[in-house]
Amino acid sequence: MECPFDQVVDRRNTGCIKWDGVLEAFGREDLLPMWVADMDFRTPPAVIQAVSERAAHGVYGYERRPASFAEAVLNWYKARQNWEIEPEWLLHTPGVVTGLTLAILALTEPGERVVIQPPVYPPFYRVLQANGRVVVENPLVEVDGRYVMNLGELEEIFRSGVKAMLLCSPHNPVGRVWSRKELEDLGELILRYGVTVIADEIWSDLVFPGVKHTPLATLSPEIAQKTVTFNAPTKTFNIAGLYVANGIVPNPAYRQSIGALMERLSMGAISFFGLLAGETAYRTGAQWLDSLLVYLEENAHYVIRELSRSAPQIKVTKPEGTFVLWLDCRDLGIPHGELNQFFVREAGIALNEGSAFGPVGLGFQRMNIGCPRSLIQEALERIEQALGAL
Ligand SMILES: Cc1ncc(COP(=O)(O)O)c(C=O)c1O
Repeated sequence: MECPFDQVVDRRNTGCIKWDGVLEAFGREDLLPMWVADMDFRTPPAVIQAVSERAAHGVYGYERRPASFAEAVLNWYKARQNWEIEPEWLLHTPGVVTGLTLAILALTEPGERVVIQPPVYPPFYRVLQANGRVVVENPLVEVDGRYVMNLGELEEIFRSGVKAMLLCSPHNPVGRVWSRKELEDLGELILRYGVTVIADEIWSDLVFPGVKHTPLATLSPEIAQKTVTFNAPTKTFNIAGLYVANGIVPNPAYRQSIGALMERLSMGAISFFGLLAGETAYRTGAQWLDSLLVYLEENAHYVIRELSRSAPQIKVTKPEGTFVLWLDCRDLGIPHGELNQFFVREAGIALNEGSAFGPVGLGFQRMNIGCPRSLIQEALERIEQALGAL
């Protein structure tokens, strides 16, 4: 039987950004898209069935949020991450980035300083800058090909006064799944300096076999009180277009502030397709996810193995999770500002430009490997050819 993840699903003309948006973003239509972070796989069959049945009903009026959704969220995080979430800690937003924005608006003031750790998911910059908060960068550091947090520098920054930190855990784009020890060290600083952490854990289900994600808020009740976490079924089960995310806020004062802001913005409704797909996925998708993780890790190994043979000048950070790879292209001999266009023009591949993840990303590209291996093979052949012609 064919592995479901090997199946190539034609996504063109579905309105998806990844395939249908390449012309607008890169000026060419014929690119192999390995940029926007969603996957080219079908969501689990049970999710497709639930959504199809509901769609066939044909009446899509206002719906109440079923209690069974929250129950599915709590059961999932208990089973997958050993996290006992109290029902009253939960809130729901259409997206994780919306949640991060709400938390920033509710818990910090304009002009206050907020730490991020680049290279990092570009909206971390945008959310802060668009809302008048001051971005304080504490770049990750590379030690023996592995990125780690610079906790020494972070302590200096905390000591100089910051209101909050946006934590990416696991970390996009470098694929780190922070170890419990690293998070404990971070937690100590958080408590010592009274910093609020807004933890983006959208990638937390996508950790490779044998790797464990530790939700920051599970480290201690004290750390939980300083932490607001957002996660979602959307990356995990490839339902990002259905818009549903979870906020987990153990601190009642934080919860009150975020809740009041959502009230002021008349915000709170989630599309029932999102709720239905998310709930069905959480209830029935564990096995599908386990198979996906094996497939994604093999994709990562495949790219690393092939590039080390065909393009050893490109160094790839070995990820512990996610479906993105961080390619260090600084030794290719191509001016760093022209790398992305090189891959577009010469290889016909759409990658994310590294400097979008912060100035430290210049010279890097991000590659999305959430697709059938045959597409990756095609991309690698194109890269090999393009580099051969240099
Ligand atoms: C770290 C991180 N947070 C959030 C998102 C997007 O979340 P949402 O679509 O729920 O706003 C992404 C998508 O790539 C991401 O990488």
